[in-house]
Amino acid sequence: MTRTPPALHGPEFEADPHPAYRWLREHEPVHRVDLPGGAWAWLVTRYGDARAVLADPNMLKDPARGNETWYRAGLGLPFDHRPSLVRSMVNVDAPDHTRLRKVTAGAFTPRRVRALQASAERITGELLDALRTARSPDLVRDLAYPLPIAIICDILGVPEDDRPEFHRQAAVIDSASFDEVEAIAGATNWFDSYLGGLVDARLAEPSDDLLGDLVEAHRAGELSRDEVTSTAFLLLVAGHETTVALIGNMLLTLLRNPREMARLRGDHGLVGAAIEESLRLESPLQNATWRFPAEPATVGGVRLEAGEPVLVSLLAAGRDPEQYEDPDVFDPGRGASHLSFGHGAHFCVGAQLARVEARVAVTAVLDRLPGLRLAVDESELRWWPSMIMHGLFALPVDFDRRVS
Ligand code: HEM
Repeated sequence: MTRTPPALHGPEFEADPHPAYRWLREHEPVHRVDLPGGAWAWLVTRYGDARAVLADPNMLKDPARGNETWYRAGLGLPFDHRPSLVRSMVNVDAPDHTRLRKVTAGAFTPRRVRALQASAERITGELLDALRTARSPDLVRDLAYPLPIAIICDILGVPEDDRPEFHRQAAVIDSASFDEVEAIAGATNWFDSYLGGLVDARLAEPSDDLLGDLVEAHRAGELSRDEVTSTAFLLLVAGHETTVALIGNMLLTLLRNPREMARLRGDHGLVGAAIEESLRLESPLQNATWRFPAEPATVGGVRLEAGEPVLVSLLAAGRDPEQYEDPDVFDPGRGASHLSFGHGAHFCVGAQLARVEARVAVTAVLDRLPGLRLAVDESELRWWPSMIMHGLFALPVDFDRRVS
């Protein structure tokens, strides 16, 4: 076995990152990885270390804690540093984190998630009606992509008329690569001013949606205006691509495992466990967001200095053989927990909603697309060229169209 660490970018890595992560887990479980702009970070790949770092209060999230090299490379906040978009819970630590999270959590209570399930079922039904008549159906473009963004618009209370433009601008942010600075800046400007306008509208007239709740908290002095707009922006960024990737990865996993797909068709009660297993096997987020030790720390026997950036690989942790028997096998029956929604104080706020969306989408596909199969060779599938996301660009499929 070679001692040279594998590349963590490029077509081979994007098509199948698992061999590279296997190598790192075995040989350099806390690996110093070079990043664009002269920056570097510690990449943590073993489950035990990953869980410990995510739970460690010494590992801070505030980007101002990052060292000079990291900060100057501009990696932490790809969209820019303006306060109206970055003052959200994912970039702060207690006590600000606790305060921001509490207000937002109200949007994801079981009661509200149940109401969103009804929307998810309606939207999925409409999307599949259209997909069933499409000449070249694509489960990412036609289902996984539009469903979560429609739900986020519902949560925030984006008016129907504004949604096409909201979708268009979100697509720019989702699909632009880091060097497409102008496109990203244009879409970021749009969201900045659009979200500001929505806040003004809620200030003039209260409303029964998450933005309405956030604006009320602002009125009560619990949130600044920047925190209101930043939280709305965070929900868009955190809740969209991730859910697209979950639905796409889950459907691909079923296409790769036809016996499991048949079992799920026969018993929809198994879908929930299959989604958890897909989250473990193909984590939609390759890495958790940045962390910085407040004080020097030791992780996996490696000393990390204060301010050195740390990335926790959720994708690598999900396949650690120390944690999971036969980790590369898709086995919904194993009932294993995973780190794909994070762990500790920053555990995903939208996890229940993401699970509901995935369950609705997958169940509907099983019911309405009999004989589902890939329309291209698997080697032709394209993945996001990203060290952050682990998701498909497209999932072209075919199915038995004569059966209703
Ligand atoms: C399959 C879909 C999703 C996955 C895999 C996912 C994953 C994650 C992970 C791993 C974290 C923790 C990041 C860290 O600690 O560095 C996180 C945080 C977060 N997620 Fe999700 N997420 C998903 C869907 C959603 C949805 C649908 C929403 C809301 C609409 C959402 C909102 C958030 C927010 C607000 C945070 C920040 C929590 C905090 O900092 O306290 N996520 N998510």
